[in-house]
Amino acid sequence: MTHIPASFPQTDAQAGKRRVAEAALSHVEPGSVLGVGTGSTVAFLIEALAARPGLIRAAVSSSNATTGALRAAGITVLDLNEVEDLPLCIDGADEATRAHHLIKGGGGALTREKILAAAAKRFICIVDQSKLVDTLGTFPLPIEVIPMARKLVARTIEAQQGRALWREGVVTDNGNHILDVHGLSIQDPPSLERRLGQITGVVTVGLFAVRPADVLLVGSPTGTEII
Ligand code: A5P
Repeated sequence: MTHIPASFPQTDAQAGKRRVAEAALSHVEPGSVLGVGTGSTVAFLIEALAARPGLIRAAVSSSNATTGALRAAGITVLDLNEVEDLPLCIDGADEATRAHHLIKGGGGALTREKILAAAAKRFICIVDQSKLVDTLGTFPLPIEVIPMARKLVARTIEAQQGRALWREGVVTDNGNHILDVHGLSIQDPPSLERRLGQITGVVTVGLFAVRPADVLLVGSPTGTEII
């Protein structure tokens, strides 16, 4: 996971990520268990949580990287199976629309992120303003696949639309492979998510539209917009 110390010169994107991560803390119910996503925006969230010891009782993590960062911040990490009630999950995204549809999985953690989003009563997505788009698909759509089905899934997708490129050398926390589908312009995200999810060998499609974010927080160097 990327860790950017406060003293490092910040680009607008980094400043937006830090600001939105800090703003997200006001949505956290004190003493609750929090679902925590993965990525550089979430790294700022974990940093903000570390500065507020005791704000949450514990966290459920979406990746091995996040688990390591949470533990380093002194936060107890629970297995989802130990948790009866997950009021909130906070996670980043690679692209987001004002309809709360997302592309996720640039960091390869899409499956556990989708499980947390499904388990949580409320899902807040935190992004810097560069991630806000009118139409999803400029960012290649990540798809986690069972390794033996990688070529089968790639051929099946390419027969329909786009170019499915293997993210070579990457093995997910679940032992699977990732395909990145280039050249999409996604007009109906829930329908594409359902269609790709039905291909045999697909574990998770990096579209979060059937279960979209409930709230989208968009950070810029000067403020945070709530959508
Ligand atoms: C991880 O698999 C992704 O879904 C991340 O949430 C997404 O890539 C956003 O990452 P950044 O916050 O690093 O941009």
